[in-house]
Amino acid sequence: MTANWTAGYRTEAPYPLRFHRELNPRRLALAMLAGGVAPPSCDQPYTYMELGFGQGISLALLAAANPQAQFYGVDFMAEHVEHARGLGEAAGLNNVHLSQISFTDLDKQKFPEFDFIVLHGVWSWVSADLRADVLKFITAKLKPGGVVYVSYNAMPGWAAMEPLRELLKLEFDRAEGSLEACIKAALRRVREIEKAQPLFFRANPTIEIRLGQMESEGAAYLAHEYFNAEWKPWYFEDVAADFDKAGLTFAASANLHDNVTDLTIRPEGRALYAEMRTVLQRETLKDYLINKQFRRDIFVRGPRILPDGEFVALNAAARFAALMNPDDLNDAKLTTEAAALKLNSPVHRALVAGLANGARTVSELVAEPALAALNTNAAFGTLFLLTAMNAVEPAAAEVSPLSIERTQRLNQAILQRAATGNSIPAVASPLTGAGIELNAIDQLFLRAVMDSAEPVAAAAEAFKQSRQTPLRDGKPIAPGEVKKYLRERHALFVKSKLAACKRLGMVG
Ligand SMILES: C[S@@+](CC[C@H](N)C(=O)[O-])C[C@H]1O[C@@H](n2cnc3c(N)ncnc32)[C@H](O)[C@@H]1O
Repeated sequence: MTANWTAGYRTEAPYPLRFHRELNPRRLALAMLAGGVAPPSCDQPYTYMELGFGQGISLALLAAANPQAQFYGVDFMAEHVEHARGLGEAAGLNNVHLSQISFTDLDKQKFPEFDFIVLHGVWSWVSADLRADVLKFITAKLKPGGVVYVSYNAMPGWAAMEPLRELLKLEFDRAEGSLEACIKAALRRVREIEKAQPLFFRANPTIEIRLGQMESEGAAYLAHEYFNAEWKPWYFEDVAADFDKAGLTFAASANLHDNVTDLTIRPEGRALYAEMRTVLQRETLKDYLINKQFRRDIFVRGPRILPDGEFVALNAAARFAALMNPDDLNDAKLTTEAAALKLNSPVHRALVAGLANGARTVSELVAEPALAALNTNAAFGTLFLLTAMNAVEPAAAEVSPLSIERTQRLNQAILQRAATGNSIPAVASPLTGAGIELNAIDQLFLRAVMDSAEPVAAAAEAFKQSRQTPLRDGKPIAPGEVKKYLRERHALFVKSKLAACKRLGMVG
């Protein structure tokens, strides 16, 4: 199979419906602030561009929850643009502007200057020419102080996989038939080759794990991930050099815990890490210490280092909302390459309990008697970790009636699809100004709350109507067990999610 008009990018199947919380500008701003870099304000009007937006889920969720901002997106796949447009229309959004063009044509269209330009799942999968087009666009269109988020497959974590992907691609290109048939044939053939015990496989035992993971993925994901003409894991140093040419400097990782040394690097490596003098050296060594496979970098045009006074003031003014109930902290864990962190001390619980009635700033929280022992910087640091753990989320300063109306309209459209097998894995919150993950079954329960329906019966009926079966660990539940399973899931939803869904303004 060959594909030329797309510069070798596979466009036969649309990208899966995925949500990435890291594309939320408030999380990017939080990572910058924690690193002492002046963050952009996300409460003022701003402009945001996603290059290669896939199904447009992040764009729609962000646009609904932030009517003060303008969201742009470029993707060359007609199906992607159509899907994203459909979401925008369902929610009555007038602040999403989509262009079905290739990155090669970015300079042929009129765009404003941007505060944020984000690219998720693009950099490792497009050609040198297209990366040059993207950098030219960033050079021309990113405002001073503007922020770029770029994710990519990283070295050395993908070192063993690069030759395997070449082998898979060779077999894929030799195969005939549909996209799915070619992918299956390539995987089958590589398993046959494996039986011949090639020395490459023996020298790289992680290949077996990776092949197993690939076999459990759908064809659409595998096509976008492994079977494009281009596929290149990058060293941080090379990506930083490219962005340096566009006048940008590395500011932080959008993977929040990656910014915390003790959470990323095991004790044995910390002294070596501390000896490194530059960001470039530190990040490079870190990638070896943790065998980094995927990076989510934040680059800034002219980052301004915050003076102490301003850093403290911005820490105090940072606003958060709770995604969890304090009791659920007992079951939550932040597992990283170096540690498994529990945040369930009385102080952690008091911080989350302080957000039980809505979003509050750090200075409001530390005024609580239960939190009087914390200064604002310590409270901010803890809330940063709680954000990394997905127990809290940065929040908007104001919740406008328009953001409430639009998020609720968008959520209604999302919840309607929950049982169809085509569900969107997140809903929007006007309080956080972003999307929040919510699985399909919990979405059905939320829909029942909106409709004042009996939740278990309503969810069972929704599955029946769309001829779908709820899944447990990816496997269908037996017909006679569906109601029992939904009752168990509903009990968990009521215990852990319902209060947050209401508090976060997801439904009216
Ligand atoms: C791996 S997907 C990621 C989608 C989305 N950012 C997400 O994370 O859900 C990459 C996206 O880039 C788009 N893309 C790839 N090459 C492109 C090009 N040359 N011009 C425009 N879009 C492109 C694809 O259509 C696809 O939607």
